[in-house]
Amino acid sequence: MRLKIAVLAGDGIGPEVTHQATNILRAVAELGGHEFTFVEGLIGGIAITETGSPLPTATLDAALECDAVLLGAVGDNKFNALPPDKRPEAGLLQIRQALGGFANLRPSIAYTALSESSPLRPEVTKDVDILFVRELLGGLYFGAPRWWDRESNEAINTMRYTRDEIVRVARVAFELASKRRQKVTSVDKANVLEVSQLWRATVTEVSKDYPSVTLEHQLVDSMAMHIMNIPRNFDVVLTENLFGDILSDEAGVITGSLGMLPSATIGGAVNLYEPVHGSAPDIAGTGKANPLGAILTAAMILRHSANLEQDARAVELAVNKVLDAGYRTADIARGQQPGQTPVSTEEMGKLVHQALAESI
Ligand code: NAD
Ligand code: IPM
Ligand code: MN
Repeated sequence: MRLKIAVLAGDGIGPEVTHQATNILRAVAELGGHEFTFVEGLIGGIAITETGSPLPTATLDAALECDAVLLGAVGDNKFNALPPDKRPEAGLLQIRQALGGFANLRPSIAYTALSESSPLRPEVTKDVDILFVRELLGGLYFGAPRWWDRESNEAINTMRYTRDEIVRVARVAFELASKRRQKVTSVDKANVLEVSQLWRATVTEVSKDYPSVTLEHQLVDSMAMHIMNIPRNFDVVLTENLFGDILSDEAGVITGSLGMLPSATIGGAVNLYEPVHGSAPDIAGTGKANPLGAILTAAMILRHSANLEQDARAVELAVNKVLDAGYRTADIARGQQPGQTPVSTEEMGKLVHQALAESI
């Protein structure tokens, strides 16, 4: 199996966790006799500093020629005063749009070994396995008009969706649910927003093609509560761009840390893989970053871009083994036995590598 992967490490902890994820991919290639090649590119704050642009043309061209793109994280406090289109985050939105993937899959799983890492009680998180399907190319992120008039002190963003944009992401959610526990929860704000009324009507229409899958609708505000109260009730959660951004971070609490969450964006010319977390400037450079979200993202590359389901599972199993053995980075160290100290980003990466080598 040959795979060419663009690695856009970005800012803050992005390069730290991405390095561990590519190490794991290298190990999978070696153990399985695959040929994975890695092409590095600049994105985000580091790209602004070095080239003046958050997404240099060279990066986008290289990404479009690869089979998959692995992105670390973008964002640096030193650019906070810039308008949205000049910030590191603009590079991320531009590459998402250019690659064309519209369905962002964000699994949120409660690992048994981490039941003490979550502030939620173990009986609440037990067996939780939610898959968020977040629409990634529409809504407030991309709707026009958008502006801030500093004279009149007025600003506007536009939440816009077309029926076709909703249909295509809804189909992804129903297809995935039909291979899981047969349930889609669609999240909107249909009691207030016309866009959400279109969303709800369209998702209901798509659901007719999937009679074995149960569809329920939830309003986003109460959904934010249900996810914490009864997370076990949810299988596939389908929602628009901003609601999905917020709810998937919230669901990090179920797993124990945002640093544990992977993601894959499918449906475009090239799939884009990114851990859910950001550049975490508060811990960048300290060796505290949890690389497991990025490593589990690497597993999603194996699954969705290389069709190497067994290898994807082997990586996930290796992560489970390391957690079962009691190893924790600082963010998931709650509930660790007295006397045990958290491991660093690099140590965690090495532990997963060892566990993988033993299991493949
Ligand atoms: P963040 O996700 O960077 O961090 C939130 C909190 O979670 C912090 O306390 C951080 O230390 C912790 N955390 C995150 N990832 C972790 C990991 N792997 N291990 C351990 N702890 C981890 O969110 P933020 O602080 O709101 O944003 C910081 C910057 O990141 C901003 O510029 C934002 O725009 C950007 N951002 C980028 C992406 C992306 O590139 N995909 C995603 C989210 C935020
Ligand atoms: C994410 C991030 C991005 C988003 C930002 C950095 C543009 O929060 O990937 O979840 O809002 O989509
Ligand atoms: Mn986010």
